[in-house]
Amino acid sequence: MSSLADKLISTNIELALERLRRGGLVAIPTETVYGLAADAEQSEAVARVYTAKGRPTDHPLIVHLADFEGAAGWVAEVPEHATRLAQACWPGPLTMLLRRGPRVSNAVTGGRDTVGLRVPSHPLTHALLAAHGGGLAAPSANRYGRVSPTTAQHVLDDLAAHLDPERDLILDGGPCQIGVESTIVDLTVDPPQILRAGAISIDDVERLLDGFVAGASGPSRAAGMLASHYAPECQVVLAENEIEAEAVAAIRRSGGQRVGVLDRTDDLVVAAQLLYSDLRAADQGKLDALVVVLPAADGIGHALRDRLAKAAVR
Ligand code: TXA
Ligand code: MG
Repeated sequence: MSSLADKLISTNIELALERLRRGGLVAIPTETVYGLAADAEQSEAVARVYTAKGRPTDHPLIVHLADFEGAAGWVAEVPEHATRLAQACWPGPLTMLLRRGPRVSNAVTGGRDTVGLRVPSHPLTHALLAAHGGGLAAPSANRYGRVSPTTAQHVLDDLAAHLDPERDLILDGGPCQIGVESTIVDLTVDPPQILRAGAISIDDVERLLDGFVAGASGPSRAAGMLASHYAPECQVVLAENEIEAEAVAAIRRSGGQRVGVLDRTDDLVVAAQLLYSDLRAADQGKLDALVVVLPAADGIGHALRDRLAKAAVR
């Protein structure tokens, strides 16, 4: 008898395509995190994404496309800013919020008049998108509010009970290269606003657009950006440096807690790649708390600090 992993995890793009066409769900590898995809134009399949994740239906999904040219029909208009960002950043870890076009259904946007579009760069998913031709609506492939997945095994751990091995699939593209979700920039407002930090920084976006871009501070208009998010079971405690982290850990250990210390501040690219594996490992090790040394607020460090702050809220 084959295991659930054998049935669900595959590298077969043709099989993934066939399942998407029949209304199945396919977890897709991207350079940021794994997504849980449905054909964006099959509303019942899109509805299953929400059920599998346990996500409220008013939190919209990003539509993934093979290339910028494919955006026709998905957006009402292509502002000059979008063309510039697409040329510089796609395929890559950038999501643009734009006025939605006729191919976008209410199932995808929760009734909003905007849509998030992204062209991911992972070769397997790029090949799948190119063969599919249309859009794939996909949120991160984790249960709602929990830690995002950066390997096929993470997706299996989170969603096996919510996927149907006869209809759905997890496309295994190896560990994600970047490890944190895409930067989201809202181009429907003036000035454009960063709604979520990612590997592409606000400085990058300002440089590419030749002008001021508003930051992610203040109440975010990206639906579902709650204070608590990306959270493991164990408590995440933030520390400014290694000495503080060890001191906090020692106090908690003396109180009988199982405590780990995570310090990857020497290499932020690796810290991002491993962040979600690290948080998951803390739960697997049955830790009560994980004390994390905050990375410098520089480059991808902004995105790491954002995710860690949300993981620490409970
Ligand atoms: O890197 C990524 O962006 C990954 C990979 C799979 O592409 N996707 C991802 O999706 O992180 P998700 O759904 O976990 O996070 C997207 C966030 C959600 O908070 C969603 O509610 C928000 O963006 N969002 C998407 N479309 C939106 C829209 N039209 N208006 C406001 N918020 C939107
Ligand atoms: Mg998510």
